[in-house]
Amino acid sequence: MSTIRLGDEAPNFTAQTTEGVIDFHKWLGESWGVLFSHPADYTPVCTTELGAAAKYKKEFDKRNVKVMALSVDGLASHKAWIGDINETQGTTVNFPIIADEDRKVSTLYDMIHPNANDKLTVRSVFVIGPDKKIKLIIVYPASTGRNFDELLRVIDSLQLTAYHKVATPVNWNSGDDCVIVPAVTNEQAEKLFPKGFKVVKPYLRMTPQPNLK
Ligand code: BEZ
Repeated sequence: MSTIRLGDEAPNFTAQTTEGVIDFHKWLGESWGVLFSHPADYTPVCTTELGAAAKYKKEFDKRNVKVMALSVDGLASHKAWIGDINETQGTTVNFPIIADEDRKVSTLYDMIHPNANDKLTVRSVFVIGPDKKIKLIIVYPASTGRNFDELLRVIDSLQLTAYHKVATPVNWNSGDDCVIVPAVTNEQAEKLFPKGFKVVKPYLRMTPQPNLK
């Protein structure tokens, strides 16, 4: 078991997937990445989640994000189950699914939480930046399917705040105003945010989203 924290390098691995053997770092290249685990093939919630992940491909592509799934089932099981996902969710699975039968990757990423289930992976989500660093970790139990709109929303925030000196406030969605990070002085803010900013309190300054026209 290893503990992975925000800012750590995403551990590299080579794994058998539905799209062949993949070296994770090479596969990521210059892209952002989402690595997410699901408890098991042929289960209802997972079927809907993987269908959603496939349907969101255009949205992931727009953000330069590659997606990879994982469970501890084998390759033959994954490949047969993909047929069911495509049939029932009206989609075509378009990302690799790791067949982690030996639990190598799930152990590396601490995706098995023994007090929840000692055999199956929980619903972990790791977002990885182009620098291969871990930008986000979210963990859901098997009984709760993820919200892929929330995942896109968080990726929008991660990408915006990686390149601009802003943070995103509560319930922020792309297009909403942002907060200026405390390290930026008002003098610097005038240059960095030509659309202007509003000083609500000296520590709470709002500015229009800087990467929008
Ligand atoms: C599911 O994907 O539906 C599921 C998997 C494991 C436990 C409960 C639900």
